[in-house]
Amino acid sequence: MKKNKYVVGNLKMNMMLEDVSLFLKEISGHVQNNRVILCPSTIYIPYFLKQDFAVGIQNVFSKNQGAYTGEVSAKQASRMGVHYALVGHSERRLYFREDSQMINQKIKACLDTGVVPMLCIGESREERDLLRMDRVIKRQILDALHDIDDLDHIMIIYEPTWAIGTDVSPSNREIEKIIVFIKQLLKKYKGTDSIPVLYGGSVNEENIREIMNIDEIDGVMIGSATKNPKKFLSMIEVAVNE
Ligand code: PGA
Repeated sequence: MKKNKYVVGNLKMNMMLEDVSLFLKEISGHVQNNRVILCPSTIYIPYFLKQDFAVGIQNVFSKNQGAYTGEVSAKQASRMGVHYALVGHSERRLYFREDSQMINQKIKACLDTGVVPMLCIGESREERDLLRMDRVIKRQILDALHDIDDLDHIMIIYEPTWAIGTDVSPSNREIEKIIVFIKQLLKKYKGTDSIPVLYGGSVNEENIREIMNIDEIDGVMIGSATKNPKKFLSMIEVAVNE
């Protein structure tokens, strides 16, 4: 397995405070690798920072400061010591109507304040069935990175929406094909081959080893399977320590 791959844990809105305490108790001292990035609910971020984990925020607003009740900016996150932010997760595109223009602005806000945006992209089942996958992914990437030249501090996470929270994931061959496609696209249209490209969508204890073994992959994002800290730890063990 190629070394230095990332594991992003997307804790979503799953945990209550007692779950967070338990989670932190179980994993503290076992995650030394700064390529393991934990993304808890914003309200719990200070607990994770206190334990020296690499922390990502699940969402940021596109402006740095101002009268935007309920929002959190990349600048605020950065000042707290948060180095990563998920941008354009499919749940945000779906439930909060985030469009490509908004996603592009959020990426710019992150880059302006030293936060690494982890851009999430991926096709729906319907788009896949209609063989529109390549077109959709190309559009999502080029729109999100429109007018952006600072490409050294961006990560991309390929997450087909039909694989999220479903226990169904593409075959390793399919994942590899699409990761290669994304990398070729980035080279052709943005002139870079340094953006890490990760896979997310129903990564679990059974499939993580094989997925991490895919040559071109730079890591994984784990969602539901983070709920159980013991299982999550054993997945990290396989992914970054083996
Ligand atoms: P999942 O979620 O692992 O539950 O499929 C992945 C994600 O949404 O990041």
